[in-house]
Amino acid sequence: MHNKSMSNENDPEVNKEVEAKGPQSMNERGAMRSRRPASEAFRKFIGSNWGPRDDSGVQRSEVADFLPARHQKLSRTFPADRLVIPAGGLKVRNNDCDYRFRAHSAFVHISGLGGEKEPDAVLVAEPVEEGGHEVVLYFKPRASRSSEEFYADSRYGEFWVGARPSLEEMETMTGLRCAHIDTLPDALAKDAGQVQLRVVREADSNITSMVDQVRKQAGLVHGEDARPLDEELTQELSEMRLCKDAYERDQIALAVNVTYQGFDEIIRSLPRAVGHRRGERVIEGAFGARAREEGNGLGYDTIAASGNHANTLHWIDNDGPVRPGDLVLVDAGVEVDSLYTADITRTLPVDGKFTEVQAQVYNAVLDACEAALEAANKPGCIFREIHEAAMEVIAQRLEEWGVLPVPASEALSASGQQHRRWMPHGTSHHLGLDVHDCAQARQEMYLDAKLEPGMVFTIEPGLYFRADDLAVPEHLRGIGVRIEDDIIVNDDGSVTRISEDIPRTVEDVEAWIARVQAEGK
Ligand code: GLY
Ligand code: MN
Ligand code: MN
Repeated sequence: MHNKSMSNENDPEVNKEVEAKGPQSMNERGAMRSRRPASEAFRKFIGSNWGPRDDSGVQRSEVADFLPARHQKLSRTFPADRLVIPAGGLKVRNNDCDYRFRAHSAFVHISGLGGEKEPDAVLVAEPVEEGGHEVVLYFKPRASRSSEEFYADSRYGEFWVGARPSLEEMETMTGLRCAHIDTLPDALAKDAGQVQLRVVREADSNITSMVDQVRKQAGLVHGEDARPLDEELTQELSEMRLCKDAYERDQIALAVNVTYQGFDEIIRSLPRAVGHRRGERVIEGAFGARAREEGNGLGYDTIAASGNHANTLHWIDNDGPVRPGDLVLVDAGVEVDSLYTADITRTLPVDGKFTEVQAQVYNAVLDACEAALEAANKPGCIFREIHEAAMEVIAQRLEEWGVLPVPASEALSASGQQHRRWMPHGTSHHLGLDVHDCAQARQEMYLDAKLEPGMVFTIEPGLYFRADDLAVPEHLRGIGVRIEDDIIVNDDGSVTRISEDIPRTVEDVEAWIARVQAEGK
């Protein structure tokens, strides 16, 4: 659709004009489809005669009450520094078409924003005299309808992409002080040299350069020398998300709930998937439709892996057939409007019944899930112990089946690890705004840390017997199983599977498929 609305490429007068000018620059060529009316009469007319704006939907958002506590955490770590947290900009997909905007998760967490109207916005946490910081949101507020942006800017203009909030509306929604993005350079340069600046470097290269310019002019550490300072900020922004507040817990529960609905859609789609040459895409589409209807979209690309494709861990081509008698492994999560995501895997028998050997592999993985959950439930559990508990079960089962070339005890030692041939990935990761949340946290805060109330993480063991794996008996080859649940640590230290309603035992999965498909008839 882009930029078609004002096209007059068939107008002979315009074409003559183009010819007369001679060769065009590459930039000019990009604008060829659309020639903007430039007459004063047009400008005057398009800026006039619009009805009043309806601001009745503008209200303080639920998350606004949770922001001060998040800001205080930042202040405790960096009491005197000016902290710069950009949302990031639009990314070009090709020519004048951009990818859908998704703000950097640190920006989302500190601002509570999650929409598509904040590309190029920047949060600045400014240290204040009485202690703590004032967090100010710099962004491009809505332009007036008499501005050229209104009708002519396909990236930001209201006529093209919808209205952004005004400064006042944004203040109402977030509870933050808001300022025009044009005032950002001065705000960054204020008291140059007296305040240390730190920036989330990877969020927006333009803002990183701007901050660096200020640091350089003020005689502060800059360029690569400032990287360690900036990385301390990124690390803190990651670590402060390790324990979710009440708002975040609700949002993740919602994401899991909608993801469950998406899996129902997957089950409904199975008969059509079986009849389609690219049945995996049918499954992917069924989930994606629900994700978009009920949430912002997908938290990550859906893995819909039937048969041997399940043994390609990040199979997102999803262009294979779905055959009766096979298992289909689906790893999918809905990202809700607040941008929190679920991360769920279920491995489903395409025709509704597990074969004996499929159930054998499935139950080994399920036992590993249970062992991991039990480990997590023990007081004082260290994050890495969850994986270790799952691996014990996996190694034991492989030993029982005569598949392991060494005893399980030897495989489980640091110098063994042979069982990892069949499960090369980790068992758990933190989950939240990012599917692999808190990825910049230090090891002592993540892998080596005790579980704390509010932590949300996955348990996702698997077994993957590739079709060409000569180290396993033939009957196991081509079977891949993963079961993934999302877990929360409660205030009393116990853990709960947030996804406990999504069936996962052999019997429950079979009954689930039968029920959903019967409902569809
Ligand atoms: N879906 C990615 C993961 O399970 O980590
Ligand atoms: Mn997953
Ligand atoms: Mn996962």
